[in-house]
Amino acid sequence: MCGIVGYLGEKNIKEILLEGLKELEYRGYDSAGIAVLNNGEFSNFKAVGKLINLEEKTKNFTTDGFAIGIGHTRWATHGKPTELNAHPHLGESSYVVHNGIIENYAELKKELIAEGVTFLSQTDTEVIVHQFEKNLKSAKNAFEAFEKTIKELEGAYAILLVTKEEDGTIFFAKNGSPMLVGIDSDGDKYFASSDTPLIGHCSDVSYFDDGDYGYVTKESITIFDKDGHTKQPRFQKLSTNKLSAQKDGYRFFMEKEIYEQSDVITDTLLGRLSHDEVVFEELESSLFDNINEIKFCACGTSYHSALVASYMFERYAKIKTSVEVASEFRYREPIMTKDTLFIVISQSGETADTLETLKMAKAAGLKTLVVCNVDNSSMVRLADATILTRAGVEKGVASTKAFATQVVVFWMLSLYLSKHNSTLSTEEIAQQVQLLREVPASVKVEDAMHERIKRLSKRYLHGHGFFFIGRDLFYPLALEGALKLKEISYLHAEGYPSGEMKHGPIALADPELFTIALLPEHLLYEKSKSNVEELSARDSTICAISPLEFDKADDYIQTKKQKSYMLEFFEMMVVVQLLSLEISVRLGNDVDMPRNLAKSVTVE
Ligand code: AGP
Repeated sequence: MCGIVGYLGEKNIKEILLEGLKELEYRGYDSAGIAVLNNGEFSNFKAVGKLINLEEKTKNFTTDGFAIGIGHTRWATHGKPTELNAHPHLGESSYVVHNGIIENYAELKKELIAEGVTFLSQTDTEVIVHQFEKNLKSAKNAFEAFEKTIKELEGAYAILLVTKEEDGTIFFAKNGSPMLVGIDSDGDKYFASSDTPLIGHCSDVSYFDDGDYGYVTKESITIFDKDGHTKQPRFQKLSTNKLSAQKDGYRFFMEKEIYEQSDVITDTLLGRLSHDEVVFEELESSLFDNINEIKFCACGTSYHSALVASYMFERYAKIKTSVEVASEFRYREPIMTKDTLFIVISQSGETADTLETLKMAKAAGLKTLVVCNVDNSSMVRLADATILTRAGVEKGVASTKAFATQVVVFWMLSLYLSKHNSTLSTEEIAQQVQLLREVPASVKVEDAMHERIKRLSKRYLHGHGFFFIGRDLFYPLALEGALKLKEISYLHAEGYPSGEMKHGPIALADPELFTIALLPEHLLYEKSKSNVEELSARDSTICAISPLEFDKADDYIQTKKQKSYMLEFFEMMVVVQLLSLEISVRLGNDVDMPRNLAKSVTVE
C-alpha cells in the first residue's frame, strides 16, 4: 500500500509534496521520494526510512514559479527498501511513481533489457517509465506514448508520470489501486492515493475509476475510460477531518481493515498465481531441499495463522509440521535439527519473543523463512528468506487483515511445497489455485451480514464467558475469534477444539455460557454438530455460524454455501472479527487501542 502525491501549479511544490507524503505516513512506508520539473529542469530526491530523511535532503531545494511534481512513499513488494528501489523512477527524461503490482513486468523488462535499456532498481515500477520512453520514440506525442504504455500493462496500478517532453503536463492512470485528483481555487491540480493529502488544499475532488487514464495541464483535466472514451471528472466535496479521512469513513481502523481484507488479499495473491500454479519469485526453491520438517514459531494471532498452516502443510505437502509459541520455545531448550525449515510469522517483524527464536534457529544452523508484513523489519533483515504478506499498514491493535493475508500466504506456500515434493497432482494444485482466486470475494463484507451481527451483538455483553469452538483448521480460527473478543471487549473467551468439550469444559455449560460454534458444511460437519448438541443439551447458549441451519442453536449467523471449507474459513473469519468489533462498540471500548495492549510487543 504505497502512497502517491502529485501537484501542478505555482505554489510551493516541495512543501505540498512533502506534506502530502506526511499525510500518507499512516499507510506505512520504508522509503520515499519526489521529482519536480521546474523551468525545464528535473530535481529528484529519495531517502530510505523516515520521511524526515527526505526532508533533510530537500531542505535547500526551492522552485521558481510554475512547476509539476510527483512524490511517493514505498511499501516494498518487489525489491528491498533501498534508495535505488525508492520511487520516483527515472528513464532518460521522465519520472514515474506507482502503487500496485505490474504482473507482466518481468516479460516487459526482459524485452527492454534486450533492447539495451539499463535498469537501476529491482522494482516492477521502473518498467513503466522505460516502456513509456520506448513508445515515445514512435508516438506522435507524449500522451500517445503514455496511452500505449498503459494498455501494455497488466495488474493493479495507480500511476503518475512526468516528462521533459511535456513539462506542463502530468499523466495519470488508475486500475485497481486508489487515486484521486483535486483542484483548488486557483485551478491548480493535486493528486493523491487517498484524500488526506488534499484536505486543506482542495474543496472538490474526483475519484478515478478502474481503467481511467489521461493527463492534467494548467488549463484542464482530460480523462479517458478503459475503452478510450473521454469522460468528465465527477467532482465531490472533500471531507475536512483528516483522522476520519484516514479511516476512509469507517468508525475505527479495525473496521476499515476488516473491510479492506478483500483488496489486500488481492494484493497478496498478485503475481503469485501463475496460470494454475503458485509462484514465489522471492524464494529459491532450494530453500526446501533436504527439508523433512517444518517448524512454525510465532505469538498471538500470528501463532494462530501458523496453526492453520500446519493443517495445510501436512495435508497438501505431506511434510511433518509443528507449531511453537515463541515465548515457550525460547526457554525449553528445544531440539533443533538441520533438516527442519524454521518459519517465523510476524505482522510487525519486531516481536521480541519471535525474533529471539529466529536467532536461536539461525545459531543452530537451520534454514529460516519469515512471513511478515513489514519489509526491512528486524526479522526480515535476519531471516534467510522472506515472504511479504502485503496487507498494508495495520493500525488496529487487534490484528485482522494481517491474519487473513498470513493464512493466504500459507495456503499458497503449502501448494508451492506440494509441487516441490510432488505430493499433489497438477490438477489438484490447479483446483486449489482456483479456490485461492475466490478468497477476495469470500471476505467481502455484505451490509446485511454486518447489520445482523450488529443486532445480535446486544445479546453477548455479559455472561460468564465464551467458548469459540471448531474442528480441524477451524480450531485455530476459534482461537483467533476468542482472542479478538478478549482483546477488544475485555470479556473472557476461550477457543477450544469442539471434540474437547466433553473432557472438562462442558462442566461450565449453562445459559450464561455463550458458545460460538463454527460449523462448516465441508469439514467434519456432523462431528462438530454433535459436539454442539452436547452443549445445547446442557443449556449453554449457542450461536451457530454455518451455511446450514442448526435447530438447536439459540442464535444463528448464516454464512454462504461455499465450494470448499477454505472459503468457509475466510467467510467465518470475517464473522468472528465483526462480532468482536460490534460487542466492543456496544461496551464503549476503544476498539483500535484496547487497554493494556500494544501493536507490537518488542519487549519480553
Ligand atoms: C493480535 O490481535 C494481537 N495484536 C497480538 O496477539 C499479535 O498478534 C502478537 O503480538 C504478534 O504480533 P506480530 O504478528 O507483530 O509478531
